Amino acid sequence: MKETWGELPLFEMRNVTVDFGPLRVLENFTLRGEPNCFLCLLGTSGVGKTTILNLFAGTLKPFCGSVVSRARRLAYVFQEPRLLPWMTVEKNMEVGLYRLGGDKRRREEMVRQMLQKIGLERFAGYYPEQLSGGMKQRVSIGRAYVIQPDLLLLDEPFTGLDEALKTSMQDLLQMLSGWHRCTTIMVTHDIREAIKLGDRIIVIHGRPGRIVLDMAVSRKGKEDPAVRGVLEKQILSALYLTESNLKAVEIHGKENPHFFPEAVTTGAASAAGAASVAWPGGMRGNR
Ligand SMILES: Nc1ncnc2c1ncn2[C@@H]1O[C@H](COP(=O)(O)OP(=O)(O)OP(=O)(O)O)[C@@H](O)[C@H]1O
Ligand SMILES: [Mg+2]
Repeated sequence: MKETWGELPLFEMRNVTVDFGPLRVLENFTLRGEPNCFLCLLGTSGVGKTTILNLFAGTLKPFCGSVVSRARRLAYVFQEPRLLPWMTVEKNMEVGLYRLGGDKRRREEMVRQMLQKIGLERFAGYYPEQLSGGMKQRVSIGRAYVIQPDLLLLDEPFTGLDEALKTSMQDLLQMLSGWHRCTTIMVTHDIREAIKLGDRIIVIHGRPGRIVLDMAVSRKGKEDPAVRGVLEKQILSALYLTESNLKAVEIHGKENPHFFPEAVTTGAASAAGAASVAWPGGMRGNR
């Protein structure tokens, strides 16, 4: 398939293989992402989602293959907020700014503005132990955005939060990603969350993990309940594919490209196990 990239990819891993002892988690795995795309990564437990984030973060080196990132500022948000307990909210937010230089007054102003955005201005002087779980995660997301990253990695940041809190955190993330556009890779187990937030959804399946679904989500896919329902079903069936229906999905997608009318499905169900993704031009900015 001819690749039709509007811009150079911000990150790319090509033919990556990762082994943990005898366990091969990824094999010949290829993934590219363009600037300013919000990519959601789904897959059952243990398929290698966190491993992929760690490869992009540079904390894990592949056994073979290459990982290239053009991002100069990287932020990583984990499931647990990982705030420094001996620092106030304000200082926790300022930590990432030290490396970027600039004078203290400028840093403090950036933190103040971010605290306002995340609705925690009044809690600037609080320590993490004085905050609720949701507030801590707000700080952790604010801390990631305050450095204005090119690449933001989020590993199941809202798992364990109740539905209302999760919704408000998703809204916050949506607001912040509108304020600062950057390439985002978010791992989630929540299909609705992926459709709500993602421009592009990737489902990884099997061991070694391979991409079985790679699709763009349009505005209509997010807003129209009927279209959303179809997308949800497609993602669900990709998550729980068996080897026998993997082939069927591939054939079906090729024969009937309009089966999912508001989502462009690309590179789905790569039989080779390494999906080289063609991302159609003009699909960004549809949130
Ligand atoms: N440092 C490590 N040492 C040994 N094995 C590891 C290590 N890190 C990950 N693994 C193994 O690699 C596999 C993939 O792990 P990974 O954390 O990437 O999965 P995941 O898709 O993020 O799963 P989950 O949804 O449960 O977070 C798992 O089987 C795990 O046991
Ligand atoms: Mg994980």
